[in-house]
Amino acid sequence: MTRMEAAGYALPPIINGCWQLSAGHRSDTPERDAAIDGLVRRAQAGLTAFDGADIYTGVEEMLGEVRDRYVAAGGAREDIRTHTKFVPDRDALTRVDRDYVTRIIDRSLSRLRVERLDLIQFHWWEYGTPGAVDAAGHLVDLQNAGKIGLIGTTNFNTIELAKLLDAGIPIVSNQVQYSLLDRRPEPSMVDLCRATGVRLFCYGSLAGGFLSDRYLGAKPPDAFGNRSLVKYRLIIDEFGGWQEYQRLLSVAAEVAAKHGVGIANVAARYAIDRPCVAAAIVGVRGSDHLEETLATLSFALDADDQARLDAAAPSRVPGDCFDLERVPDGPHQRIMKMNLNDKRSLP
Ligand SMILES: NC(=O)c1ccc[n+]([C@@H]2O[C@H](COP(=O)([O-])OP(=O)(O)OC[C@H]3O[C@@H](n4cnc5c(N)ncnc54)[C@H](OP(=O)(O)O)[C@@H]3O)[C@@H](O)[C@H]2O)c1
Repeated sequence: MTRMEAAGYALPPIINGCWQLSAGHRSDTPERDAAIDGLVRRAQAGLTAFDGADIYTGVEEMLGEVRDRYVAAGGAREDIRTHTKFVPDRDALTRVDRDYVTRIIDRSLSRLRVERLDLIQFHWWEYGTPGAVDAAGHLVDLQNAGKIGLIGTTNFNTIELAKLLDAGIPIVSNQVQYSLLDRRPEPSMVDLCRATGVRLFCYGSLAGGFLSDRYLGAKPPDAFGNRSLVKYRLIIDEFGGWQEYQRLLSVAAEVAAKHGVGIANVAARYAIDRPCVAAAIVGVRGSDHLEETLATLSFALDADDQARLDAAAPSRVPGDCFDLERVPDGPHQRIMKMNLNDKRSLP
């Protein structure tokens, strides 16, 4: 039994990812009210789980409104699963004490308009800076105080996740990049999950849209419309470059045609079906791509599809989960913002 099952926690296999709704993610942030309505429509269509973060500016507040509007329209409050994150600033890691943790969690509670967080996903920027186990221990204290339902992690690799588990932190999930392009969880994370009942949430399952019909046969773009594409273009390079990626897209397109769906559906379905995966997170801006996304739940990949996709998507991105992103001043780290929770925005 998985740790989520043991806790009686169920959720749909697709989670609405809300990073792209944060102010600062993109230049043409959609009109807020319309975006909230779009998220409510997703919940009404059965996609009732949302992924936000303390560092996605404005998103926790939006998700608080989504739950309220869903209930005002006749939905049950307990249908909605709102996952957020606790991402202490890199520059503050030596100062993450009980007070720091409590202030950020209290801020998330107030922004999300709830008395208890459904799931908090803990992130730690630098393993070399001690304190992760203590910080997670403060989360457990807040869980015991009723402010947190479940505790997960995000972007932990196998060794560091095992340290938290060994310390008795009741982690139920780890949110990691996992897709046709990026199979870093497979060499060891999956074994740890099998052994412990932790489950994975996959982000980047569509590589920001690169794993969709839009890019089939396309040349590499000269410019990027949003930060997700910048991020996943680097993963395409790690995968072997544009030509290898186009070969993968061709195979995914054939599998998609066989089932009468799009490449994005094949990519999301592939992620959902990976071992130890509880759900794929699909990035949204509102009700965009809603009908297409629902099609992911309308078909199954057979053994032949799996084998063809596995062969076209070899595991080429090196290292364990998020190891590349932790290389100081490496290309993956340079595009990240690691100090978004600073004192100015804390209550
Ligand atoms: N823990 C972490 O460090 C971390 C990092 C990254 C992301 N995340 C989480 O994971 C979520 C998803 O990641 P992401 O937004 O970067 O990437 P993603 O889910 O791989 O890609 C989302 C993009 O794919 C396109 N798309 C969606 N459905 C589609 C469909 N059916 N057909 C064609 N295109 C489709 C859309 O692009 P267009 O809008 O251009 O059409 C959408 O913006 C985030 O929102 C966030 O919640 C977490």
